[in-house]
Amino acid sequence: MDTIFEKKLIEKIKPIYKMGRAGDWDHILRMVNLCKYLLEHENGDKDIVLPTAYLHDLGWSAIDFSDFNKASPNVKADSVSFTQHMEQGAVIAGKILTDLEYDSQKITQIQRIIKVHDLPEIVFKMNNISATLVVEADRLDRYGHTGLERFKTMFGADKLQGSYWEEARQLRRDGLKDWFRTQTAIQLSQKLAGEMGLFD
Ligand SMILES: [Fe+2]
Repeated sequence: MDTIFEKKLIEKIKPIYKMGRAGDWDHILRMVNLCKYLLEHENGDKDIVLPTAYLHDLGWSAIDFSDFNKASPNVKADSVSFTQHMEQGAVIAGKILTDLEYDSQKITQIQRIIKVHDLPEIVFKMNNISATLVVEADRLDRYGHTGLERFKTMFGADKLQGSYWEEARQLRRDGLKDWFRTQTAIQLSQKLAGEMGLFD
């Protein structure tokens, strides 16, 4: 993915993200940087990983996600919109990449990852390092100081306390075992988890 293509892609998707969930555009920018960092230390095809990172959450802009926002952390993944955002995201990504005349085989691979990007156990079974890096970078953005800020932006400052926050903290502690496979991501997840006080 060259710089000119990256610029064109950003021009197309930034306004769409602004219609989606609160804070999603900033999440995308952080996640792309996390992918670039992982790619410096791990294998993976940057022409798959980076466009997938940019495009993966576009589905939220096309659906009603009030059920996702209302659900408590442990059951968010059971909400209808959680599945819809992956399906719709793959469709929208396909249209955008086709418009930009991206390689059609790569488009298919990117769509395949977007369709399951929030199901780490399914992605890891694909045995595809590019798909693995996408999941790791996406999940890494739930940690650290920026992970806390993102949580506040998405669900409200009042959710950073009580049982809602305790559930979310436990999910992140469990996630340290379940969401990361490469050494680079495992090390960074531990560091960011400490930074956000997950072990306090
Ligand atoms: Fe994401």
